[in-house]
Amino acid sequence: SKRCYTTFKYNKLNDKDIEEFKSILNNEETLLIRDKDDLVSFNSDWMKKYKGNSQLLLKPRNTEQVSSILRYCNERKLALVPQGGNTGLVGGSVPYDDEIILSMSLMNKINDFDPVTGVVTCEAGVILQQLEDYLEPLGYTVPFDLGAKGSCQLGGNISTNAGGIRLLRYGSLHGNVLGLEAVLANGTVLNLNSTLRKDNTGYDLKQLFIGSEGTLGVITKVSLITPPKPTSVNVALLACDSFSSVKKLLIQAKTKLGDILSAFEFMDRGCIDLVLRHQPLQEPFSEKPKFYILLETSGFNETHDQEKLNEFLEYIMEQGLTVDGTVATDSKNQSTIWKFRETITESLGKEGAVYKYDLSLPIDQFYELVEVMRLRLGSKANVVGFGHVGDANLHLNISTPNQKYSKEMINLIEPFVYEYTSKHNGSISAEHGIGLMKKDHLHYSKTSSSIQLMKLLKNSMDPNHILNPNKVLPF
Ligand code: FAD
Ligand code: MLT
Ligand code: ZN
Repeated sequence: SKRCYTTFKYNKLNDKDIEEFKSILNNEETLLIRDKDDLVSFNSDWMKKYKGNSQLLLKPRNTEQVSSILRYCNERKLALVPQGGNTGLVGGSVPYDDEIILSMSLMNKINDFDPVTGVVTCEAGVILQQLEDYLEPLGYTVPFDLGAKGSCQLGGNISTNAGGIRLLRYGSLHGNVLGLEAVLANGTVLNLNSTLRKDNTGYDLKQLFIGSEGTLGVITKVSLITPPKPTSVNVALLACDSFSSVKKLLIQAKTKLGDILSAFEFMDRGCIDLVLRHQPLQEPFSEKPKFYILLETSGFNETHDQEKLNEFLEYIMEQGLTVDGTVATDSKNQSTIWKFRETITESLGKEGAVYKYDLSLPIDQFYELVEVMRLRLGSKANVVGFGHVGDANLHLNISTPNQKYSKEMINLIEPFVYEYTSKHNGSISAEHGIGLMKKDHLHYSKTSSSIQLMKLLKNSMDPNHILNPNKVLPF
């Protein structure tokens, strides 16, 4: 057993605990999963990199049940892991050892939508795509979007402070979440479910739960501000032969497209190669330049948007910032272009073991690190770079044909990548979080006094450390 939580001691589940959970869940047997085979997928993460050994999964239907479960676990010193869609990429959503899995999947009601303010209120287990589908006929859209939208949940998105491809346009969840309800470790229900855009009444407590990866409380409800859904969308795939052109292109996109710019995503040639290996897509251009930008505009006036985009395209071609390009105005061709970007993660998974690094870096180091890693690893691995270059967020991905994760490979990459990032004042987690993967590396991006204050908060909000032990903070 991996039971090496040195500081905190937990009890083993017994029959009396099971009876108590049954009674909390109104004796609905299907809300408790105990069968080993049925637990396999919940005990393993999306990448199949992290494995837990949980013997019990609970599926509460409402906040009261979450509160009773937590109160009981706190008294009995039973640890648990809140789990949403289990698409997290840092090992935060699966048990470290035999923690109880608290699945939020049945708390999936959309409660209210205000067509004037655009504020939507729903339960935390709502799947991102479900909310998008609900808002579409109302003329609204979700202010963030991720490749995992078909299974990730709002509670998981908020707990990881997920970024994704619309952050450039609509900003982060720290601004778009107006309120939430969270259950604390001792069962207290904290109602922070404001729907107000402005509310300066002391400490903004909801922010503590945005990005705390289930270590401070379980999010049960959320209120989000949603923007009107743009009616005119254009998608372009542009090719560049140098990273310096990519940087100039970004400046021009921001200044010439302004408020209609809705995505500016980066992929290197290695990403295109691997997507072509695993997806039914065609080589996009006759040549194979080094870098690709997926640029999207979204607005409300087709003529105006297209004029603006055409002026921008003419300018960048004149200046030689792009060596080839294609523009899609209909949704079928747009979605084909998006596939080049959105299937990178899935395609990487088909290559073998993938070592993922999600970094914020100054733009001058953004691609330099990919090249440094290629030199460092030589023929031992395939190194690719992609990401949200408009937000200076690089996804450095290193894959090996061997399906098994190897300690030798990790030692070649870490702490080198973290030291490089820290030296350039970047962040070792731009948007995926810390989870289990980076908890011992937190110091590369946080000062010791910040880590002290984080520990103080954790100790006072969850003194028995029942919530997601061994994640985020090194104790
Ligand atoms: P889970 O994976 O289930 O959980 C993630 C963390 O949140 C865990 O620590 C868990 O304990 C906690 N948690 C979950 N629900 C709750 C709750 N209700 N209360 C308290 N804690 C909770 N991330 C990005 O930022 N940008 C991207 O563009 C992006 N794209 C992705 C594409 C793919 C194909 C995949 C597989 C992942 C991607 N991710 C991305 C990573 C991931 O962070 C997101 O998928 C998502 O935010 C996780 O949501 P989830 O419901 O799956 O959460
Ligand atoms: C993305 O931007 O595609 C995601 O963050 C997923 C990943 O990094 O693989
Ligand atoms: Zn991303």
